[in-house]
Parts: sequence; C-alpha cells; structure tokens
Amino acid sequence: MLAAKCIDLPIFARMKNNRIVMAPLRGFTERPFREAFARCFSGVDAVVSPFIPLVPVDFVNPSRLADLLPMGEAIPLIPQVIGNDPGQIIQMAGVLQAFGYREINWNIGCPMKKITRKQRGSALLHDPKRIDSILEEVFQHIDIGFSVKTRLGFNEKDEFEELIPVFNRFPLRSLTIHTRTGAQMYEGSADPVFLIPYLPQLKVNEIIYNGDLFSIEAVEFVKKIMPGLSSWMIGRGLIANPFLGEGLKAGEMRWNRPRFLHFHDILFDAVGKASTTHTIHLNRMKGYWTLFSKVYTYGESLKDEILHARSAAVLMEKAHQIINNESVSCC
Ligand SMILES: Cc1cc2nc3c(=O)[nH]c(=O)nc-3n(C[C@H](O)[C@H](O)[C@H](O)COP(=O)(O)O)c2cc1C
Repeated sequence: MLAAKCIDLPIFARMKNNRIVMAPLRGFTERPFREAFARCFSGVDAVVSPFIPLVPVDFVNPSRLADLLPMGEAIPLIPQVIGNDPGQIIQMAGVLQAFGYREINWNIGCPMKKITRKQRGSALLHDPKRIDSILEEVFQHIDIGFSVKTRLGFNEKDEFEELIPVFNRFPLRSLTIHTRTGAQMYEGSADPVFLIPYLPQLKVNEIIYNGDLFSIEAVEFVKKIMPGLSSWMIGRGLIANPFLGEGLKAGEMRWNRPRFLHFHDILFDAVGKASTTHTIHLNRMKGYWTLFSKVYTYGESLKDEILHARSAAVLMEKAHQIINNESVSCC
C-alpha cells in the first residue's frame, strides 16, 4: 500500500531527500570554487575533492595537500586519492584522518593517459583481482570511512560484472558509478540503462550515480528507470548551472542573475588570489566559462568572445555584459 502511494508521488517530491554530491574536477573544484559556491548556493550535501596523486615517500609534505589543509569547508569535503599501492593509500588515509576528515575516496575511474599508463585510475578496472587485494589490505589498516569512484570498465562496459563481487566484499561508504568506460574518456553519452540489471546485485551501502546530469530532467530520467537510486554526483552540470543542486531539491529551476553575478565576482577574485600569474588567472576563468557558457541561449558564440579575451580585466567586462544581458536556456 505504502509502496503504491510512493509511486504516485511526483518524482520531484521524491527527490527532496536525495543526496547531491559535487563531483571532483581538477582545475575547477579546488578551494576557490568550493568557497565561492558555498557562499552563494545551496542544495549540495558533500563535495569530493580533485584527486591527490599518491607517491612513494616516507613523509607526506603538507604542501602537496594545500587544497585539503583543514580550513573549515562550508560543505563537507571528502578528499580523493589516486594510486595503486595499498601502503600509500593507508599512509595518506592516516594523514587525512589527522587533518580531521572522516572519509576518503579512491579514484579508479580516471581515464587520462598519464594516469592509466601507470596502471592507476580506470586502468585498474580490467584487473578486479588487483582491486580486491588493494581493498583487502587497505580495509585491514584504515580507521576512516572509505568510498570508491569507478567507471563501468576500462575498455568494455561488461567488465563491470566482474567488479561487482569485489565491491560487495568490502564495507564501502559509497560507490560512485560514472556510467562510461575509461576508453570512452568523455565521448559519447553516459549509459544509465546499462546499470539497470546490475543494480540489484550491488550490496554496497550507497550507490551514487554519476554522468551527464545536466538538468532536472536528466536526473528525473535516471530516477525513473532506477527508482532505488537517491544519490547523485554532478560535475560539469553543477559548474555550468550552479543553481542545479537547489533546483533539484526544490523541484524547479530558477535562474537568479544577481546571485550568479555575485558568485562570478567572488570566484574571479578568489581565483586571482590563488593564481601566481595574470595568465594563469585568465586561463582558469576561461576554463570556467567553457562550462558557464553552456547555459546561455547563444552559449557557443559567447564562449568564443570570452576565449578571445587578452586579459582578466577584459574577460571580467565581457562576463558582466553576458551575465547582465544574455538569456539562459536552462530555466
Ligand atoms: C576537467 C575534469 C577534471 C576531472 N577531475 C577529476 C578528479 O580529479 N577526480 C575524479 O574522480 N574525477 C574527475 N573528473 C570526472 C568527474 O568527476 C565526473 O566523473 C565526470 O565529469 C562525469 O560527471 P559529469 O557529467 O557530471 O561532469 C574530471 C572531469 C573533468 C572534465
């Protein structure tokens, strides 16, 4: 009876209690972005940090962890590591625990060649035995929550079948699944339909769905085909449209021009302070605009205008013109 009532509820009503996690995007979601975001928007329950590459050292130099030094994050932060040596994962888990973190996330989904050629990230996905032995050792030695972010496989989506028993063997806090393969990089589309038959086999505490969630409708679609899911990791969609998290929680999208302008200015200043040269500042802001432009009706041509800016001041002037005058297509 209760179940039948739930099915009758509009999907939005059922999404209010859902968990939204900001995806890690190296070069985008470091502290300046996280701080600006948290000052201006709501709706996001946790953030996973861009990955820290693990290296064989006796002592972890805190300068390598500048983005994670405990400075009080407004939205709970989960540090992410990438590597394939259990000893290095255990060592970093200890350091991050001492910083006060309660969970770390292991990245076995990164498709970048410079990562996979070292048998890290998604390259591990065609070796479930190795993932199993790494997790076995890690879980024997850590005293901090441990979660995993994966793709469906390295070369083929079918590789996921062999990974399920491995994931099921360990008390993972959560398993984030980006429904592409490593070989796909960011080409083609994420494939939520592929996951449907596997979902009942996964015994993990929390499954977090990831990939191409750019709108309320996209989340609604995945929710419709897999009603059991209630946790969503969103990356590019949340940068392009930072109102998306609160829109999902409220059940409707609203674009607030002054708030986006305010956010933009805080971000611009914070990125400027964190950049050692004007060129780095300019290029970082251009990076954000490759995503911000996506919500605008004439986004492609606006992006070109921004990318032509020769200085941060010119970019800022152009950005203000766009934010104040251009129409958005997302809401
Ligand atoms: C520029 C860029 C940097 C990324 N950096 C990371 C990273 O540090 N760690 C990670 O697990 N995934 C990283 N990702 C993958 C995203 O977290 C996410 O899985 C992917 O973008 C798909 O989600 P989306 O469609 O919501 O963006 C990165 C993606 C991009 C485009």
